[in-house]
Amino acid sequence: MLPRRPLAALLDPRTGQWLGADSRRRFLQGIGAVGATGLLAPGAFAEMLTQTPRQTEGPFYPDHLPRDTDNDLLIINDAITPSVGQVTHVSGRVLGPSGAPVRNALVEIWQADAHGVYLHSGSAGGERRDGNFQGYGRFLTNAKGEYYFRTIRPVPYPGRTPHIHFAISRGDRRLLTTQMYVKGEQQNERDGVLRGIRDAQQRESVLVDLQPLPDSPIEELAGEFNIVLGTTPSDPVRES
Ligand SMILES: [Fe+2]
Repeated sequence: MLPRRPLAALLDPRTGQWLGADSRRRFLQGIGAVGATGLLAPGAFAEMLTQTPRQTEGPFYPDHLPRDTDNDLLIINDAITPSVGQVTHVSGRVLGPSGAPVRNALVEIWQADAHGVYLHSGSAGGERRDGNFQGYGRFLTNAKGEYYFRTIRPVPYPGRTPHIHFAISRGDRRLLTTQMYVKGEQQNERDGVLRGIRDAQQRESVLVDLQPLPDSPIEELAGEFNIVLGTTPSDPVRES
């Protein structure tokens, strides 16, 4: 059903090369070190895990999928021209309520382009849409529950603070729909959807500290967004 290679593939932002399993692991660890304190062994700090709050899917889940649906939203297929925007690496883990990694979870993200336009026929300003921005991507978590995307720093659009939409599924079941925000963004305080999360810890859990990637000549950012599900998915997923 889903293309295999792109889901497991990971781009090294420094070389633009696809990484193999070993270097991929190192890279994910490196990215993790950039972000907030990572969640460690399964079960560790279980009492500290905050369930990621549900957020509205909103009206702009793509009504047509892009030609390319991999985890690199900057480049569509083999295009020469990347999308407009500040390159941002978002990685993290999908965990059950006690911190156990959830493998083979399908992580989908979608977001507006640098002009605030979604990959959706109902999105305002469609004529300004950046045709080089993929707008949507997906990734299957590995055995450690890890995922990774390369995208752009989300931008505000009328009525909303910058955010990236996330959906987590396993098999045919949507487990969580939520949104990720940028920590420290001024407009966060005026965003009705974000403010709708009443629990302070849960609100904090969707704010991601986007930090400059060390030594990046193009001022890339990286952040870690760990997603904690309310229940451990029990439906069997076929391994192949
Ligand atoms: Fe949105």
